[in-house]
Amino acid sequence: MERFTVSGGNRLYGAVRINAAKNSVLPLISASILSEGKTYIKNCPKISDVFVMTEIIKSIGGKAFFDGDTLVLDASTVCDWKLPEELTKRIRASFFTVGALLSRFEKAGVYSPGGCNIGKRPIDIHISALKTLGVSVSESDYISFKVNRRDGGKVTLKFPSVGATENVILASVRRKGEVRIVNCAREPEIVDLQEYLNLLGYKVNGAGTDEIVIEGVEKPSARDVEFTPSPDRIEAGTFLLAGAMCGGEIEFRREYLKNSLNITKILGNNACKIIGKNDKIYIIRFTGRTKAFGKVVTGPYPEFVTDMQPQLAACACVADGVTVIEEKVFPERFAYVSELKKTGADIEVFGNACVIVGKKNIGGAVMSAGDLRGGAALLLAGLAAEGRSVICGVSHIDRGYERIDEKLRALGADIVRAEI
Ligand code: UD1
Repeated sequence: MERFTVSGGNRLYGAVRINAAKNSVLPLISASILSEGKTYIKNCPKISDVFVMTEIIKSIGGKAFFDGDTLVLDASTVCDWKLPEELTKRIRASFFTVGALLSRFEKAGVYSPGGCNIGKRPIDIHISALKTLGVSVSESDYISFKVNRRDGGKVTLKFPSVGATENVILASVRRKGEVRIVNCAREPEIVDLQEYLNLLGYKVNGAGTDEIVIEGVEKPSARDVEFTPSPDRIEAGTFLLAGAMCGGEIEFRREYLKNSLNITKILGNNACKIIGKNDKIYIIRFTGRTKAFGKVVTGPYPEFVTDMQPQLAACACVADGVTVIEEKVFPERFAYVSELKKTGADIEVFGNACVIVGKKNIGGAVMSAGDLRGGAALLLAGLAAEGRSVICGVSHIDRGYERIDEKLRALGADIVRAEI
């Protein structure tokens, strides 16, 4: 078990490198099951969620390894459709392999997925969508799936679930007909999935809108493909908020901020100046104390992203004024709040919302991360607090951020990782 010790108060200066989006890479690893050659995922984050997914690929006969920052996947030798219990229970994205396994083997067997402790995470939307496409599902802790019909169809999702949209796309690419997904998720990570599948030779259209159409293709036409997913908008947003809380000047490549527009907008009208250094680089200069954010409501893309909610709340704790955040995607995603309060922050939860009265100063504290983004929020608070903080439960943060301590240290933060 590891922890971070942070001495808060340092300003952050320098350039930050953002990895490919975790939420693109995880479904891409599943999608590689539908390739007949090698897949090279560039700028792939070395994070524990990716390691679990690569173990899953290996457990069913595929190959997966890092060559520098490129993840190399070869699923041509995959020969099993049942995922091992221990690995599937460690990560929610394990469930996103179901669609790919169904397309390849017409069968899949998984255990109920695990994942971050951010409230209830049912799978009913996935199941009912797959049933609409003629997949029979036998449900217990071990869930088995079997394709009974391979024609096309129309699937209407009752909520634009990211994972269900991805699963249905993956389950549809090799069907004999056209599948239309209505009210699907519009996240940029789904656009990445579409681009990768089309590179392989599948026919997916409409990602980024609320209707996706998949024209079935018998086999992929390409063999080896190289793909660079979008930069991680959550990682970029977390560094933007770190700057807003600590002050300083951080350089981002322009593409890093492409999908972080709602965070850039919130901060752009606030205490930071966005300066174009050249056609590739933005300099974000954080000038003075950030003003509170008023009311922010999370929702499916393009609304404010739930995976930035805890980090925004941490920033609001030191902003000038009152912020109200309503959480509409994971209504119980506030477990981190009781830890954040240890810094003296004025933050209270009311049902699915929290109200934060910003303070000029918060103090160092010993805090324990219980989930990935909540852990990032505690780390941000530690960076901005007066004095020393200890953040336990670093493994949660490592699920989604590659070497965040090293990246912050390179910007001037005083942060040390050590075994407990
Ligand atoms: C993905 C992201 C996660 C992000 C979330 C919402 C990955 C690997 N993870 O998770 O980081 O926080 O999108 O942007 O991409 N729901 C149901 N039934 C279902 C499926 C979902 O009720 O069958 C509900 C969930 O409980 C939640 C909401 O729908 O309230 C959104 O979940 P969903 O979009 O499916 O999230 P994930 O795909 O699991």
